[in-house]
Parts: sequence; structure tokens; C-alpha cells
Amino acid sequence: MFNQRTLALIAVLCSARALVEDAEQETAYDDSRFVQPLPDWIEPFENDTKAVFTYITAGEGRGVAFDWLAEVADTFGHRYLGSAALEDAIDFNVKRLKVDGFDNVHTEDVPDLPHWKRGDDLVELIEPRHHRLNILALDGSPPADITAEAIVVQSFDELHEKAKNGKVEGKIVVFLEKWDGYDDTVKYRNSATIVEKVGGVGVLIKSIESFSLYSPHTGTGVSGSNIPAACITTEEAEMMYRMQKRGNKLVIHLYISSKEVGTVTSRNTVFEITGSEKPKEIVLLSAHFDSWDVGQGALDDGGGCAAVWHALFSLKKLGLRPKRTIRVVLWTAEEQGLWGAESYHKAHNGSDETFFFVSETDYGAFRPKSWNSSLTFSGTTEQLKTYDDIVLLINSFGVPLSVESLADQGDVTFWADEGVPASNYFPEQGRDYYFYFHHTNADYMTVFKDGDLEYTAAIFATLAYVIANMDSW
Ligand SMILES: *[C@@H]1O[C@H](CO)[C@@H](O)[C@H](O)[C@H]1NC(C)=O
Ligand SMILES: *[C@@H]1O[C@H](CO)[C@@H](O)[C@H](O)[C@H]1NC(C)=O
Ligand SMILES: *[C@@H]1O[C@H](CO)[C@@H](O)[C@H](O)[C@H]1NC(C)=O
Ligand SMILES: [Zn+2]
Repeated sequence: MFNQRTLALIAVLCSARALVEDAEQETAYDDSRFVQPLPDWIEPFENDTKAVFTYITAGEGRGVAFDWLAEVADTFGHRYLGSAALEDAIDFNVKRLKVDGFDNVHTEDVPDLPHWKRGDDLVELIEPRHHRLNILALDGSPPADITAEAIVVQSFDELHEKAKNGKVEGKIVVFLEKWDGYDDTVKYRNSATIVEKVGGVGVLIKSIESFSLYSPHTGTGVSGSNIPAACITTEEAEMMYRMQKRGNKLVIHLYISSKEVGTVTSRNTVFEITGSEKPKEIVLLSAHFDSWDVGQGALDDGGGCAAVWHALFSLKKLGLRPKRTIRVVLWTAEEQGLWGAESYHKAHNGSDETFFFVSETDYGAFRPKSWNSSLTFSGTTEQLKTYDDIVLLINSFGVPLSVESLADQGDVTFWADEGVPASNYFPEQGRDYYFYFHHTNADYMTVFKDGDLEYTAAIFATLAYVIANMDSW
């Protein structure tokens, strides 16, 4: 059984994210919530939200979000910042959104974004045996052509220990870090500056993953450094560690032709159902439309885009008009550092619109399978209680879903930091399973199983509809 406190504790143990508020709630998140009576204020929303939930998960809406996303993913492939595929996919999408009949369909420019382009990179073990490694250079890596001795370390502590003894100077550092959840492990992907400081000439990082089938996982992590950096597979990182332990000298040839090729402008995509009574109060649903330059960008984060699109489309289809505006923004340039969201926040801060609620989904658009699935929430204790009431309504549809009091709002952090109630969808499979595929060539539509996109869409449709129509927080 999981209650608020256990979940909060797990969150603290599993990640470095700060606990915003110690919720005073005694709510037990267990099966009893499926049949718990709804608070009076929620009851008027029950029929409409149940209709939309059923439409998406068990009615005509089934499979619609999958087909919507598959058409983009199969037609354009991955949607990497600076690629024609990303901009063409945005144009294609805008056309579809206009046909859907949404209000205020447009894009907003995000200028001056660095464009790094992957080349035909080669990293090979020269000694003790010639062997080509399976790698993906990290975004931002400078080009390089070096051959140097390599040293494998398992942690930053070991790196500094070895550096003190003069064993790092002039070498390529290979990290074989332990997987300890994404938030705590990803710091190794950001190790190029640290390695450079202690005299290393290049860095190869065991991919940041929870499971490996010989896949390198790309990502960011080079900013501020001048040495080349790439991710390697867990299999080969472990092999090199075993070779080193047996006393073999490791020599690696690192040829990186990937490089920065200038700057580009990309675009956020915006569409909405304008509110009938309070059009200037915005309920924001979001996900990012750009992806890495591997796979199809289906999991990360095409699924989130498909789910929030289908949430809004289904409300429209069933004629459920919100009092406040429900707006979807599909961010661009998220992967390089939330640039699309930051730019949108900056452009809209101080306008005559107010953001009433903001959300995002980027841990996988999976169906919640247990009470470990949650919506994180940041806001006041009172707002948290209101949010929990809405989630109780979702629970009454037979969906296990908890509320976790956490400040981890990804793209919508900019609003959360200013006190706007904010939430991030965190299904159980987002904790581990998601990282089998994250930033790899295996990020294909195949990741999604029956019900994944549907349940994610239905959850956001319910949240958005209630929040856009309720009196206040
Ligand atoms: C919800 O539907 C039930 C059954 O059709 C009906 O009795 C009830 O009045 C409806 N509630 C609202 C708020 O419309
Ligand atoms: C947004 O506006 C608020 C209120 O005017 C201000 O306090 C805040 O610094 C602004 N944030 C940014 C990123 O401009
Ligand atoms: C929920 O999470 C806890 C802690 O990570 C884990 O021990 C438990 O097995 C999970 N439950 C399910 C159903 O996955
Ligand atoms: Zn993502």
C-alpha cells in the first residue's frame, strides 16, 4: 500500500528533487479510492468526465492518438532541432490542427538556437584488441580525432582519487557508473567539464539507462567543455572495465566529426479551445514535439503530444465547452534545455492572460498500472487538496493514480516557480521502463501498448475539463 508519505519518501530516496511541501494529507492511495464517495463539489463534473473518459479508453476514441502520432513519426522520422524533419512535421501538424477546428492555431518562433549536427563518428578500441564501439556522441561535443590511453572509473570519487595519483592526465575517461534512477545518474552524462578539469582528453559514458540491449543513449552534457564526449553501451563499458582489471592497457581512437553548425529558429505549436466565460484564464497542457536524432521520438515525447492533443480533441468532439481556455503548447527545443518553454514563458509573462494551471507529460504516455503512478503537484496545501479531489474522480473510473507533492515540473517549471499550480504526469513505467528506450534508436511507436496513449489522454481530458470549469482553487 502506498500513502502520501511513502510516496514522498520514495521520491526523496529516488531523486534529488526537492520536496516542496509536506502534505498534511492522510489519504491512503489504495484500491479503496475506486469506491470512495466524491466530494460534493466534484459531483457536477462526474457525468461529463465519465463520458469523455469512456469515449477515449473504451469507445470510438480508442487508437486515435496512436494513429495521430504514428502518422507523424512514420512520415517524418525523428524531429531533431535544426532538421527539416522537425519543421516539416510542425507544418504538417499545424494543418491538421486547423482541420480539427481548434481556436487560435499558430506557431511562435524560438530564435537563436545552437544547431549541432551529428556526423559519421567512430570510436574504436585499439588495444588490447581492435574493436569498433557502439556509440552516440553527445549533443554539443566538439569534433576530435585523438588516440589515447583510456581509464575506466565507476564514480566521480574514483575519478578524483585516480586524478590525485596522476592517472587521468592525457587519458580518455570511461565512466561505468551505477544506475541509481535517472535524476541521480544523469550527472555522469554531464561530466565532460569535470574530466577536462582533471586533465582528461575525452570522455565515454556508459549510457544513462535502466536496462540495456546494446544501445547507446544520447543526450546533452558537454556545455562549457572543449573535450569530445560520447555515450557507449553498458555491455562495452563493462567489457573495458574487465579488461582493465585483468591488467590490459586500454587504447582508444576517438574520431568525432559531429559539430555545431550555426544557429536556427524553431517554433512552438499552440492551439486551444477558447474559454466561454474566462478566456484570459489559461489551463495549459503541454509536451515537447522535438526529439533526439535517433529512433522516431515516439516515447520522448511524441506520446505526450498525442495524449494532450487527443484530450483536447475529445472534449471538442463531445461538445464539452470549458469556461476557461484550455490551451495546448507543443514545445520545441526541449531536449537541449527546455528552450521552447522558456521562450514561451518569457514572451507571455506580463501579458493580460493569467495561467490558472500548467502541466506537462514527458515520462512516457503510459497507462497507470499501480498506485506508484502519480501526478506530481506543486502549489499550496489547499490547492493540493483540490487536486487530490479531482484525482479521486479519475480513481472512481478504476484508474490507480496518486498525487505526489513534488516540484519536478519539467517544461512548466517556469510557471511553477512563480506559484502557478503545476503538475507533471509520472506513470509507474516512467520510473524504469521508460529508460530502456529513452534517447535511443529503439524509441519507436512499438513502445506503446494498448491503452497507454488512451489512458494518458483521458487523464488529461478529465483534469483539464474540471480545472477549466471549477470555481477556484
Ligand atoms: C448524471 O447522470 C445521472 C444518471 O443519468 C443523473 O441521474 C444525474 O442527474 C446526472 N448528474 C448531473 C450533475 O447531471
Ligand atoms: C515574470 O513576471 C513576474 C511578475 O511581473 C516577474 O516577477 C518575473 O520575474 C517575470 N519572469 C521572467 C522570467 O521574466
Ligand atoms: C512501487 O514502488 C516500490 C518502490 O520503488 C516498489 O518496491 C514496488 O514494487 C512498486 N510496486 C509496483 C506494483 O510496481
Ligand atoms: Zn523528453
